[in-house]
Amino acid sequence: MAGDWSSSSSTAAKGVARRLARHHQAVLGFLLGFFVSVVLYTTVSGLLRFTNTLVILQPTPGERTEQSARTAPPLVFSTPNHSTEVNDAGGKLDEVLIRQELGQEGDGNNRSNVKHGAPRKPICDLSDPRYAICEISGDARAIGANSTVYHVPPADEHGPDGLEWAIRDQSRKDLGYIDKVNVKTLSAAQSRVAPECTSRHAVPAIVFAMNGLTSNPWHDFSDVLIPLFITTRAYDGEIQFLVTDLRPWFVDKYRLILTNLSRYDIVDFNKDTGVRCYPHIVVGLRSHGDLSIDPARAPHNYTMLDFRMYIRDVFSLPPEDQGIPYKEANKKNKNGGTSMEEQKPRLMLINRAGIRKFVNLPEISAAVQAAGFEVLIMEPLRDMRLEEFSRQVDSCDVLMGAHGAALTSFFFLRTNAVMLQVVPWGLEREAMSYFGVHAKDMMLQDIEYSITVEESTLYEKYGKDHLAVRDPEALRKQGWQLLRKYLWDEQDIRLNVTRFTPTLHQLL
Ligand SMILES: *[C@@H]1O[C@H](CO)[C@@H](O)[C@H](O)[C@H]1NC(C)=O
Ligand SMILES: *[C@@H]1O[C@H](CO)[C@@H](O)[C@H](O)[C@H]1NC(C)=O
Ligand SMILES: *[C@@H]1O[C@H](CO)[C@@H](O)[C@H](O)[C@H]1NC(C)=O
Ligand SMILES: *[C@@H]1O[C@H](CO)[C@@H](O)[C@H](O)[C@H]1NC(C)=O
Ligand SMILES: *[C@@H]1O[C@H](CO)[C@@H](O)[C@H](O)[C@H]1NC(C)=O
Ligand SMILES: *[C@@H]1O[C@H](CO)[C@@H](O)[C@H](O)[C@H]1NC(C)=O
Repeated sequence: MAGDWSSSSSTAAKGVARRLARHHQAVLGFLLGFFVSVVLYTTVSGLLRFTNTLVILQPTPGERTEQSARTAPPLVFSTPNHSTEVNDAGGKLDEVLIRQELGQEGDGNNRSNVKHGAPRKPICDLSDPRYAICEISGDARAIGANSTVYHVPPADEHGPDGLEWAIRDQSRKDLGYIDKVNVKTLSAAQSRVAPECTSRHAVPAIVFAMNGLTSNPWHDFSDVLIPLFITTRAYDGEIQFLVTDLRPWFVDKYRLILTNLSRYDIVDFNKDTGVRCYPHIVVGLRSHGDLSIDPARAPHNYTMLDFRMYIRDVFSLPPEDQGIPYKEANKKNKNGGTSMEEQKPRLMLINRAGIRKFVNLPEISAAVQAAGFEVLIMEPLRDMRLEEFSRQVDSCDVLMGAHGAALTSFFFLRTNAVMLQVVPWGLEREAMSYFGVHAKDMMLQDIEYSITVEESTLYEKYGKDHLAVRDPEALRKQGWQLLRKYLWDEQDIRLNVTRFTPTLHQLL
C-alpha cells in the first residue's frame, strides 16, 4: 500500500524541491525581518508558479438565483431611506445573529445607537499584533477588479469624510507577499455616486488571500486554514469566499475543508469585474498564533482539539472509538486467529526529499520493522490527494519524521496516537514550538528524539570545530540567517539506529 503513493512521483518531488530551493534563495532577503514568525518553513510558497490554467471559479447562475431567492426584495441603493429600511429588516438581523454566533453581542452593535449616529465600532481593527481585520455591515460592496470593499453607510450615519484602510487579507499583517485590499467607508457625497450593485447576496462574504507562504502544509494550516476556521466556522457554511491570489492547487487540495466552511462557490476575486453586494463582509483572517486556537477568543470556545476532530469529520475518518479499518478487516479475515501480523502497530515514516532528509532511510525502516512495527513510507508532495492520505495517517499508531512541514498531517491522527519527531541538531526549540506543543494541545502523544551531533551530516561536512557543530546556541545568537543556513537547510540526518531503537521500544 505504501508503495502506491511513495514511489509514484519522486521525480516530481525533486523538481519541486529544486524549484523551491531556487525560490528559497530569492526570498531569503525578503524574510530578513521576521525571525520567529515568518521564516522557519521554507520549502514554500506558491509565489512563482501558477499559470492559472486549472480552474477559474466564478459564481454560477445557480448560485445567484439561489442567493437572490433568499434575499429581501431588491434594494434600490440610490434611495438611501429605502435601503436603510430593508437593511434593518434583513441585513442588521443577520448581523445580530452573526455577532451572537461569534459571542460579540453588546459591543457597540446597539441598533438605536447606530440609528442616532453615535460612534460605531470601527470597521477595521488593526490592534492585534498578528493580523488586521475589517468587518462591514449593512451595505457592503466588493469590487474585485480593483481590490476594494466599500461600506455605504445609511443616510443618517454619513460622516463628512470617508475613511480608508488598506490591509493584507491573510492572518499575518506583516507578510509582504500579500497584496493589500482597500476598505473604504463612503461619505454622504461619495455614497450618491457609489458603484451600483451588479449582484446581491443574502449571505455574508469574506475576502482573504491564498498566496503568501502557502504550499508548505504547515503554513497552509497556520496561515490560512486555522484562521479561516476561527473566522468563519461559526457561520456554518453560510458565507461566501472572495479569494485574492487564488491558488487552484490549494482549492483542490483542501476542497473538503473549504466546501465545508462555505457552501457557496469560491469567487476568484482578482478576476471578478462586478460589484457584489452583501449584508456583511469580513476582510482578513483572525489568527491566535502559530498553528493555534485560543479558546477564550474563539467562537464557541473552539480548541485545537476541536479543530483536529473537525478535520477528521470533514475527511470522513471513522469515529475514534471505532476500530482502525484495516485492523478490523484483518481480524475478520483471520477469523479470530492470533497471528501477530494483525497486532502490529503501524508507523508512518516521512521521507523528506529535500532538506533535513534521512540519509539512511532503508536502515531506519529495517530498524523500525525489527522493533515490531509495520512501516508505511510516505513522501510528502504538495499536490497529494488528501482523501486517501488522511485514511493512511488515521490507520497509523505513530507518525514519525524529521522536524518539517509534513508532520502537519498529525491532524489526521487519532487521540493518543504518537507524533515521533526526530529533532535535527540544535533545533529543539523549534521542534517544540512548531509541533510539540500543538500535538499535546490536540491530545496526541508528543515524543521527541533529539539527534546527537554525530547523527547530523553537519558533523561530516564541517568538522567538529565548526560553530554550528560545536555550539548551535552560539550560532543562534549570531542571527537567524546563519541558524537557518546550517541547521535548517544544510543538515541531513543519519539516524544511529542503535541509539534510536530504545525509543521505539518505549513506544511499544
Ligand atoms: C424615501 O422617503 C421619502 C420621504 O419619506 C418617501 O416619499 C419615499 O417613498 C422613500 N423612498 C423609498 C424608496 O421608500
Ligand atoms: C442602546 O442604546 C440606547 C440609547 O443609547 C440605550 O438606552 C440602551 O440601553 C442600549 N441598549 C443596549 C442593549 O445596550
Ligand atoms: C474601482 O472599480 C470601479 C468599478 O469598476 C470604478 O468605477 C472605480 O473607478 C475603481 N476605482 C479605482 C480606485 O480604481
Ligand atoms: C461541516 O462539517 C460539520 C462537521 O462534520 C458538519 O456538521 C456540517 O454540517 C458541515 N457543514 C457543511 C456546510 O457541509
Ligand atoms: C469562552 O471563554 C471565555 C473566556 O475564557 C469565557 O468567558 C466564556 O464563558 C466561554 N464561553 C463558552 C461558551 O464557553
Ligand atoms: C550509536 O549509538 C550507540 C549507543 O548510543 C553508540 O554506542 C555508538 O557509538 C553510536 N554509533 C555511532 C556511529 O555514533
